[in-house]
Amino acid sequence: MKLLHIDSSITGSDSITRRLSRDIVAQQQAAHADLQVSYLDLAEQAPHPLSMDALGFRMAAQDDTLSETQRQENAVSEALVSQLIDSDIVVIGAPMYNFTIPAQLKSWLDRVAQAGRTFKYTENGPVGLLGDKTIILALSRGGIYSANPAMEHQESYLRSIFGFMGVSDIRVVLAEGVNMGSDHRERGLAQAQADIRALDPTAVAA
Ligand SMILES: Cc1cc2nc3c(=O)[nH]c(=O)nc-3n(C[C@H](O)[C@H](O)[C@H](O)COP(=O)(O)O)c2cc1C
Repeated sequence: MKLLHIDSSITGSDSITRRLSRDIVAQQQAAHADLQVSYLDLAEQAPHPLSMDALGFRMAAQDDTLSETQRQENAVSEALVSQLIDSDIVVIGAPMYNFTIPAQLKSWLDRVAQAGRTFKYTENGPVGLLGDKTIILALSRGGIYSANPAMEHQESYLRSIFGFMGVSDIRVVLAEGVNMGSDHRERGLAQAQADIRALDPTAVAA
């Protein structure tokens, strides 16, 4: 069984989402002796944001008409999308920045949202191709959005895009209100640990 572990927080060892994603991966490792883990640190090594050179996977250009830059960018996209398709479980540490996910994580999503690989267009609309995977989101945010859900584009966005790519098993570990004083922070962190304990690590895509 293969697990892809992704972090995207820029705050290094202070990061809550990095701690949560690490705890989730450790829980999965304890439950699955055969687990192969690969790791992507998008704060260190994000793909470039999409550009015309990086759009190769959306165009039918023949390989010999591509520039060296386009070939390299295609190889980056291909490596990322195959790594995702090949994974059974994907654990993603994703902080909220300006009401949504970090740009680094969006750049990764822009490389893996590929027609023909992770979704396809049909006469009845788009169909997701990622299928039987489990996605576990490790989320943190400074505020609390239950009273103002229209401002929340972090969890809702990730649920939408992975749902679009065909994943229905999406689980969420959430620390919220972590910048609203120590009481809120402790409560948010405790809730996230409770979310992790409530994940059933044996009931994941196999
Ligand atoms: C650049 C930046 C933007 C942020 N924007 C928001 C925001 O829009 N809403 C919010 O509730 N918290 C916001 N926060 C707070 C973070 O979501 C919170 O500190 C979270 O724990 C960060 O994840 P991390 O600890 O893994 O780095 C922001 C933090 C940073 C650094």
